[in-house]
Amino acid sequence: MAVGIFDSGLGGLTVLDAVTKRLPDVPFVYYGDNAHAPYGVRGADDICALTTTGVQRLFDEGCDLVILACNTASAAALRRMQEGWVPRDKRVLGVFVPLIEALTERQWGDNSPPREVAIKHVALFATPATVSSRAFQRELAFRAIGVDVEAQPCGGVVDAIEDGDMILAEALVRSHVEALQRRMPKPEAAILGCTHYPLVEEVFQDALGPDVAVYSQPRLVADSLADYLARHPDRQGPGTDPGFLTTGDPARVSSKATQFLRRGISFSAA
Ligand code: DGL
Repeated sequence: MAVGIFDSGLGGLTVLDAVTKRLPDVPFVYYGDNAHAPYGVRGADDICALTTTGVQRLFDEGCDLVILACNTASAAALRRMQEGWVPRDKRVLGVFVPLIEALTERQWGDNSPPREVAIKHVALFATPATVSSRAFQRELAFRAIGVDVEAQPCGGVVDAIEDGDMILAEALVRSHVEALQRRMPKPEAAILGCTHYPLVEEVFQDALGPDVAVYSQPRLVADSLADYLARHPDRQGPGTDPGFLTTGDPARVSSKATQFLRRGISFSAA
């Protein structure tokens, strides 16, 4: 029954938290590649190789379905993995599609041709690797026409959050929002395209102002996954036990994760 959740580090715990609340009976196995985080400053080949290793580990753990909670991995590696690497009896899904389906007011899994949508000006906040991949714009173009996307690479925010320096994280968020507003003064919607940003969602909303609709991923991914599993119940793998795996130091990662989610979490070596 297990479903895998892959992330470059701890940020994916925001997604894990939401899917666990939405699907309390599903055992989730979380894999954090803490030894190699952050991914946001790595090249696409590197991200693809690391993501493939992590996803294989989750397959070995009895997960037939793996969610790439990491936007950077979804952006830089998912398409390549789906095209040539994922075995026929397994599935790997990313986090952009649920977000774009919500933004374009589609039913989950609606693959009909692109059409005009109400929102015309969208701000995307993400890691440098996600922004340079243009994966968000590509997925959006499959579903909507006439939407202008302005993307802001948010250097430093992930590191500040991982270091627990929320004062620096807030200052960086405000300066990234200002930088984006110089190019797009009035976005109607803002996408928080990184697992860590829900932890500073209120700062984004405050800096953007009340008229901007902020789309944060965890709840959207959880709703979309619940719908997917209802349509494909056979996609849950044979694994039965939930767990937390890390390529980093399990004691150090467990202590940070416990701070992150404010509940006891115990990681084992991947
Ligand atoms: N988890 C990554 C993401 O969602 C951010 C952290 C990183 O750069 O590794 O984009």
